[in-house]
Amino acid sequence: MAAFFEVEHVSKRFGGLTAVNDVSFQVNRDEIVGLIGPNGAGKTTLIRCLLGILKPDSGKITFKGEDITKRRPWEIVQRGLVGTFQVVKPFRHLPIIANVMVGCLCPRISKKGEWVKRTEVKARDALEFVGIADLALEPASILSHGDLKRLEVARAIATDPELMLLDEPFGGLNPAETELVARSIKRLHKGGRFGRLHSEGPAMLIIEHKLSELMKIVDRVVVLNFGEVLAMGTPEEISKNSKVIEAYTGKEVLIA
Ligand SMILES: Nc1ncnc2c1ncn2[C@@H]1O[C@H](COP(=O)(O)OP(=O)(O)O)[C@@H](O)[C@H]1O
Ligand SMILES: [Mg+2]
Repeated sequence: MAAFFEVEHVSKRFGGLTAVNDVSFQVNRDEIVGLIGPNGAGKTTLIRCLLGILKPDSGKITFKGEDITKRRPWEIVQRGLVGTFQVVKPFRHLPIIANVMVGCLCPRISKKGEWVKRTEVKARDALEFVGIADLALEPASILSHGDLKRLEVARAIATDPELMLLDEPFGGLNPAETELVARSIKRLHKGGRFGRLHSEGPAMLIIEHKLSELMKIVDRVVVLNFGEVLAMGTPEEISKNSKVIEAYTGKEVLIA
């Protein structure tokens, strides 16, 4: 039987540059998996392939037993796989809650005629979850960078995902904000308020540079280097792996 989420031999080239080269790994339903690697290793390119934003040159992506390799991004969201992005691009002039509701514009959440009522409740719940519900009616332009990252998470969780791919959720956050987002990711994964469609919270694949923070919340780590999988293992195994330490020259201590 196929794994919950299975990436098999995925490659992506940009002209003469192979950004992702023959990458294979799995994410199980109950896991949080970290995806790490030096700058330019191909992490963002890979995640964009997995979300249907980029078309891989070869390889296969299976989600809940279905081949989604050729599906469009909105078809993939509809199936329960959603991403958050390294560079956040909200509709700055729209109210914060509208930014979250736009993310729900898929049949997964909306039924004909009920769209506004249902999604407003959903969006408000999501904003409460990340702690910015009191600002719901303000335009997104008033949010600090840290709060924009929280809006990004709210937009994703309002679609009721079963798997979330997070690209640098701690990027540009100060230690207190990082701690806050890390805690909500962990809380979300454990289920609870956002487990309405599913008894458990979403599985997660998290790209992050802040390794000491990431290592605290993941079950397993996949390391990319020059577009290829360099190593896979538990945070403890990865932090002792000499190939990984070499790839991160100057960063010998992975867990601070
Ligand atoms: N749209 C693109 N066109 C050409 N090259 C790209 C494009 N996106 C990424 N790359 C290149 O692919 C490689 C991997 O980039 P990226 O996936 O952003 O790495 P990471 O997220 O691990 O830092 C880099 O060499 C980058 O310059
Ligand atoms: Mg990146």
